[in-house]
Amino acid sequence: MTLFESAVRPVLFRVGGGDAERAHEFTLKRLAALPAPVRAALKARYATAKPVEVFGVRFPNPVGLAAGMDKNGVALPAWPALGFGFVEVGTVTAHAQPGNDKPRLFRLRDSEAIINRMGFNNAGAAALAERLQRLGPLRSSKLGVPLGVSLGKSKVTPLGEAVEDYLTSYRLLHPYADYIAVNVSSPNTPGLRTLQDKDAIADLLGALRGETPVLVKIAPDLTEPAIAELLEVCLSHGAAGVIATNTTLAREGLAPADQPRAVEAGGLSGAPLTEKARKVVHFVHTETAGRLPIIGVGGVMCADDAARLFDAGAALVQLYSGFIYRGPALVRAAARSI
Ligand SMILES: Cc1cc2nc3c(=O)[nH]c(=O)nc-3n(C[C@H](O)[C@H](O)[C@H](O)COP(=O)(O)O)c2cc1C
Repeated sequence: MTLFESAVRPVLFRVGGGDAERAHEFTLKRLAALPAPVRAALKARYATAKPVEVFGVRFPNPVGLAAGMDKNGVALPAWPALGFGFVEVGTVTAHAQPGNDKPRLFRLRDSEAIINRMGFNNAGAAALAERLQRLGPLRSSKLGVPLGVSLGKSKVTPLGEAVEDYLTSYRLLHPYADYIAVNVSSPNTPGLRTLQDKDAIADLLGALRGETPVLVKIAPDLTEPAIAELLEVCLSHGAAGVIATNTTLAREGLAPADQPRAVEAGGLSGAPLTEKARKVVHFVHTETAGRLPIIGVGGVMCADDAARLFDAGAALVQLYSGFIYRGPALVRAAARSI
């Protein structure tokens, strides 16, 4: 057991009477306030040098922080200190929005899983752009690791006007991003996943075409023919890669003690997603004959899970739930697994 698992996690899991979202906010605040010498000490312990170049961007190591952890980029300097080789902030939307009613974030501890239906709670694309400008980094220069920015559709914007909505956020944020992630796979914005359809994604990619690499984040619940169609559009419309996968609507692989929580609406992540995400990564890699770089994400809970995602064809991997359950030692172990 690591120090995180024996001492830090039990404290964090008790914050706010066990309320997962309050623990999340508490942790982000603490991370945002880390003094520079502490960050330097953490970095000496956790950072791994395993440089890779993917879609023309150099990464100090291939293990990144997945979208949703630091939606508004409030704790940016902490993530490289915890060993991450890149950071994806967001998902942000053109309009600031509160997200769904609380509670909307649930730990399923025996299953090492999370269910969330946050619904893109975020301060908006303009606020993130302002923060990034204040921090000074133009792309990754100040942060020390590449920065991805994940964009979603505002809830108030009708699906038919989605392209313009994404474009508003893109214009504000692409100057700060090493890559843009187009999130069309969250299960928590009504209708969003239909943007994964061939024609919709073609329109979106066509509109966002520019110098900044654009990656498409896909759901693990798509059928293989639907993924194949989407990949064709990605290849023909200049997408720089695919992020596979987002959370699942399925409820397989849960421990008996977590069954009562399985009824909560939202996306499931963590250990129950490992195999599913790996299969999607493998399918994308085979289907495109390796022509589209893949960021593999979903259920990386140990070094072996990361190694298997790399073996399946991922050029980079990201962590969310694994980081909640295992802490920064997992970042280091995953980076060393390649
Ligand atoms: C609480 C929570 C919030 C999330 N928010 C976002 C988000 O805003 N945008 C996004 O693309 N993915 C979001 N995700 C999905 C993760 O980025 C990741 O794709 C998914 O959790 C699978 O990885 P994991 O099993 O390592 O957690 C979120 C996940 C969780 C648990």
